[in-house]
Amino acid sequence: MFEDLKDLPPDGLLQLIKLYRDDSNPQKIDLGVGVYRDADGGTPVFRAVKKAEHRLHEVQDSKSYLGPEGDHEFVAALRPYIFGKNDGYGARLNGVQTPGGTGAVRLACETLASAGAKRVLLGTPSWPNHGPIIQATGMEPVLFDHADIKTQTLDFGALIDAMKAADKGDIVLLHGCCHNPTGIDYSADQWGEIASIVADRGLFPLIDLAYQGLGHGFEEDAEGLRKVIAAAPESMLAYSCDKNFGLYRERVGALYALSNTEAQAATLYSHLLSNARANWSMPPDHGAATVRVILSDDDFRAEWDAEVRDMRARLNRMRSALAEYQNVGDVDLAAVGRQNGLFSTLNLSKDQVMAMRGSHGIYMAASGRINVAGLNERNIPHFVEALRSIA
Ligand code: LMR
Repeated sequence: MFEDLKDLPPDGLLQLIKLYRDDSNPQKIDLGVGVYRDADGGTPVFRAVKKAEHRLHEVQDSKSYLGPEGDHEFVAALRPYIFGKNDGYGARLNGVQTPGGTGAVRLACETLASAGAKRVLLGTPSWPNHGPIIQATGMEPVLFDHADIKTQTLDFGALIDAMKAADKGDIVLLHGCCHNPTGIDYSADQWGEIASIVADRGLFPLIDLAYQGLGHGFEEDAEGLRKVIAAAPESMLAYSCDKNFGLYRERVGALYALSNTEAQAATLYSHLLSNARANWSMPPDHGAATVRVILSDDDFRAEWDAEVRDMRARLNRMRSALAEYQNVGDVDLAAVGRQNGLFSTLNLSKDQVMAMRGSHGIYMAASGRINVAGLNERNIPHFVEALRSIA
């Protein structure tokens, strides 16, 4: 059966976890996979998560199946954070729990493809898993430039041109905030412009929101995407709780779908459940149950909110600290100070990235993407020295 298969390279991002672990260089720095790190380089379990897990341990009296929709109270509890307190969508908006944000993107793409969608407008660079998921579900990614890495500027014109050239019913995939991998987001005005073109051209927005709260705040990070959702009769939103609840390996996500009418929403929901059933049957429970407990308890929620605020503040401090170095060779570090979330992509060649790794023990994606959370006051000088030596 498998004689003709050829070896595939390991996933470029995920292999960095092991490469970094196996490096004995005491000065090594992990700027690879997207996990938040504190000033000591750790990714501790949130205090609010520990408390909610403790409560779950005490009160959970069954681990029986919940069904393909997962924990619907979890899905309902997240909804106001994403869509606003009184979103007004009523039963036109539905959601299901998914295994992580990846499961949500996959379920969205499969369901869209089964409904006849053919093309997804995708700004590059993007999260490296977007393209493969779109293709695996039989759709075609239609690429445009999200940003110019040399100048560290958004190529908004490329998005506008791509949307204007698209056909009615084409999907446009948008990062809700904290663009992965560039950290370059749309302004409020640009979101407004996107919303009006989406409406004019009859495009279908698919929003990937994996870093809410790590940019400017929960409300602020959702303001732009809400304009697009309000402008389009139908849309989907893939959500991840990996980073903003620190629940990475628990695989906690959700897919929300907005339909034209309540009747259509009910039909679409039945397809989401059927596709979920054929994929993973039911999502894992523990992480979503933990989020539900946090969001339904005032004290836990306040503690969680404060923890996310601290993460955001630390990320912004690291961005400002790096920005002070201005330019190192062709790398514009000042731009890092204007960007959002975990990531920025530096203007480095693959050879330079490999030199950072081989000669200095600094691990980043081959694209030049850095996870800003891997930096701290102590390792930034080593990082900048290394950049200077390879620039
Ligand atoms: C990342 O981009 O590093 C994270 O979202 C982890 C992943 O699944 O790729």
